[in-house]
Amino acid sequence: MHATSLYRKPLFVLVTFALAALMPRFVTAAEETAAQRDARLQWWREARFGMFVHWGLYSGLAGTWNGKPVATKGGMEWIQQRVKADTDTYAQRALPLFRPVPGFAGEWARLAKAAGCRYLVFTTKHHDGFALHDSKVSDYDAGSRINRDLVREIVAACRAEGLRVGFYHSVIDWHHDQYEYARSKQLPHPLKGQPYPNGTRDHAKYLDYLHAEVNELVSNYGRVDILWWDYSAVDFQGDEAWRATDLMRLVRTKQPGVVINNRLYRTPEAGWKGMGTEGYAPELDPRFGDFITPEQHIPATGMPGIDWETCMTLNTTWGFSEHDHAWKSSETLVRNLVDIASKGGNYLLNIGPKGDGTLTPETVKAFQAIGAWMKVNGESIYGTSASPFASLPWGRATRKGNTLYLHVFDWPSNGALDLPLQNQVRSVKFLAAPKAKITATASPGGLRLNLGATSPDSMASVVAVELDGAPRVAGTTVK
Ligand code: GLC
Repeated sequence: MHATSLYRKPLFVLVTFALAALMPRFVTAAEETAAQRDARLQWWREARFGMFVHWGLYSGLAGTWNGKPVATKGGMEWIQQRVKADTDTYAQRALPLFRPVPGFAGEWARLAKAAGCRYLVFTTKHHDGFALHDSKVSDYDAGSRINRDLVREIVAACRAEGLRVGFYHSVIDWHHDQYEYARSKQLPHPLKGQPYPNGTRDHAKYLDYLHAEVNELVSNYGRVDILWWDYSAVDFQGDEAWRATDLMRLVRTKQPGVVINNRLYRTPEAGWKGMGTEGYAPELDPRFGDFITPEQHIPATGMPGIDWETCMTLNTTWGFSEHDHAWKSSETLVRNLVDIASKGGNYLLNIGPKGDGTLTPETVKAFQAIGAWMKVNGESIYGTSASPFASLPWGRATRKGNTLYLHVFDWPSNGALDLPLQNQVRSVKFLAAPKAKITATASPGGLRLNLGATSPDSMASVVAVELDGAPRVAGTTVK
């Protein structure tokens, strides 16, 4: 140190500290304390119900190629891969059919709100590689091809309804000419098994592009509440496939509050023990994401300590298909939501808008039916935690503090619900019929609720039982 600098030292130290305090410091999810993580995830855990939207070039094709149905079941957002089309042929056919009407996103957001969804996650880019925003680093995007920034439109529509917004983003890319699809045997590609049409490829260039597009998405659209990556394979994942650590850092630096799924990885410590729909594992190191993503199924039991979200379709496809009529009933949808909440998870329920952005009547009907049920019974879903009971023969339960919400699916023939509870009841009522009389009596197994002969809601009648303290379930200790 130079002699004259000595007397300046206090000033130097002060300035250094002041600068350090001003520097935006990036905290990785792994460096967070448990309390910081809980605070970041709080809204997401309380929300319990979100709308998923799969919409892109495939939506206009609607499951049809050369005038014929490609299939009547299964994901038609994969149509390019199903018919093995190269990206130019696909785009040539699909682009003229992708014509979003003005205000399309308002319809989605209003429906999500009416259904009781607290967030909406939509495909900013699916596997076909077509980006819905106006990208400076691509000419295969809505900005270049239809002169619209659809991401901006969708985000604005969600915000207008007070919904949180999530970006689904596919790291798999069937368009980019440097994406080295031959490096994975397990990930899909329309040209799989064929040599690259353009000679050798340099995956690092694809990764620069992937990171640049993600950077645009997390920099130019205000707050992003969820980043929903899709997806990785056991043989191609993480840093090798996506430079995942850097990608996670980029997103968390630009969006410190963001909640991120685990699909940049496919390892047991990231919640994936293998390939296949049921390949999830009930563990997750926070370095790899905030929640795990069971797809098209509901785990058999809850997973204490693990945040999870089941995503599901209304019929059997994510992207719109005019040939798929296997719509789930409103009762199934409501009961799925209840089942998931009773196990401590979130439900991300998909819609597949048409190529013009409008919705099928079945889609509208399904979400409206959930909305009607949620309007009456929402307090038994939002902000609840998993059931304290291992199982209940007649339905499900959720919990909020000392209150239990009992969801009756199968009405008991004697009108009585027996609960293995050693508590006193402070109050008990149906959410759908607060004035109807329910009495609580002691039973050999614990507590009996006499509900009467008629169910107020055939999909799921909810009984709210306020107990004298935390539930004391016979044979178990509940905190
Ligand atoms: C899958 C599919 C996909 C869909 C997604 C939803 O991984 O590839 O088409 O977007 O899951 O979870």
